[in-house]
Amino acid sequence: MTEESVARAHDALVEVLSPGQVRRDESTRESYSRDESDAGVFPPDLVVFPESTTQVSAVFRTCQALGVPFTPCGARSGKSGGSLPLRGGVAVSLERMNRILDVSVEDLTAVVQPGVVTGELMRVAEEKGLFYPPDPNSWEFCTLGGNVAENAGGPRALKYGVTRDYVLGLEWVLPDGEVLRVGRRTIKGVAGYDLVGLFVGSEGTLGVATEITLQLIPRPRHVKTALVVFDSVHGAARAITAVLAAGILPRTLELIDETALEAVDGRGFNFPPGSGAAVIAEVDGNVEEGLFTELAELGEICERHGAREVLVAQDESQREKLWAARRLVSRALRALKPHKISEDIVVPRSRIPDIILALKALGEELGLRVATYGHAGDGNLHANILYDGPHQRPLVETAILRMLELTVSMGGTITGEHGVGLAKREYLAMEQSEALLRLQRRLKHFFDPSDLLNPEKIFPALERS
Ligand code: LAC
Ligand code: ZN
Repeated sequence: MTEESVARAHDALVEVLSPGQVRRDESTRESYSRDESDAGVFPPDLVVFPESTTQVSAVFRTCQALGVPFTPCGARSGKSGGSLPLRGGVAVSLERMNRILDVSVEDLTAVVQPGVVTGELMRVAEEKGLFYPPDPNSWEFCTLGGNVAENAGGPRALKYGVTRDYVLGLEWVLPDGEVLRVGRRTIKGVAGYDLVGLFVGSEGTLGVATEITLQLIPRPRHVKTALVVFDSVHGAARAITAVLAAGILPRTLELIDETALEAVDGRGFNFPPGSGAAVIAEVDGNVEEGLFTELAELGEICERHGAREVLVAQDESQREKLWAARRLVSRALRALKPHKISEDIVVPRSRIPDIILALKALGEELGLRVATYGHAGDGNLHANILYDGPHQRPLVETAILRMLELTVSMGGTITGEHGVGLAKREYLAMEQSEALLRLQRRLKHFFDPSDLLNPEKIFPALERS
């Protein structure tokens, strides 16, 4: 944007907000220019902080009237570049809309604003004997609005599903500023098209949620966690498949391979020396003895597949330390090599051992270090390519392409929880047909004919008009 048009947009936005809600200083623009994706740095020209639905709507209308691109964001913890303002313009931060408006024990629902930190809702729900299961590993800082935009998953998706499964209704601001209420506040409801399903996971390209009605469930009374240690990642992968085939559904089956273990070991949790891979298995329910039985059965299956040790967390603090180590993996890997690309591929569960073997072989063939960890129980793996610098970038691109080809050839998908955004848009055509891409572009155009809301995301560049 030219200096003059920035000044014009600034004045117009101050008019509908207040001076403290519109920023254009260098350091604010810098903080809103990046996320957790390593997909690039894109500073917005202005950052605004609306505090109500009316203000969000006014910001959208103002941007439309001026022809200025605008891109919503939350905690900027996204991993696909979904909140990066690729064409500059206005970053619309929903962080100040951070109130939990209602938690109903009778209805088993919560109503929240988009800037509420996910962990905050989890805590408040649990205090009331309720449970909000979706648990992206960034729950200590990510926001529910971001979770809705990306349809975030997490370790517990294995048993409980993803964000989409808990969103009942939305207050939604369309790209032209119109405010709609979609969905409902009951479990059942089939009136009209399922627009909630369309909007959840639309990655900030079809509008933004300003109020979210979520389903909660009763909090399971007991949770038991085991750390299962293997000599190799293959053994771990085979054990995971065997556990699922035996009719046990733990709430998590998280895999951490040797490289990922090396990155987190000793940072608040010590893994048994020489561990080649670890699985965090967690079961929950209301009858404690039942859980011990389930965990014992799970341990036996793992031992039959080469597990070296099955360690059951003795108390809450041990359990939390183990999970804290798991949550650290993504960031800790940065300490092993200066750069990393984090994939979030998913394969059908029966193919988990195959994909893990193939990824390891691929890393060896290309001479790149690949760390694999994540939600192996639901087939969703974070394969991280670690590398030294830009000179290795062509090799990294080859690795990504080969990895995604393998995934799709096994009947999987290129992104299980992080979204397409900027990071994956050139790969979407590997998985989806031209006709399907065309239909989705038409949907985007229908909702946002000016293409000013979060432009240039999701769809391959060559196909964009
Ligand atoms: C995780 C993030 C990267 O599971 O999705 O750690
Ligand atoms: Zn994940």
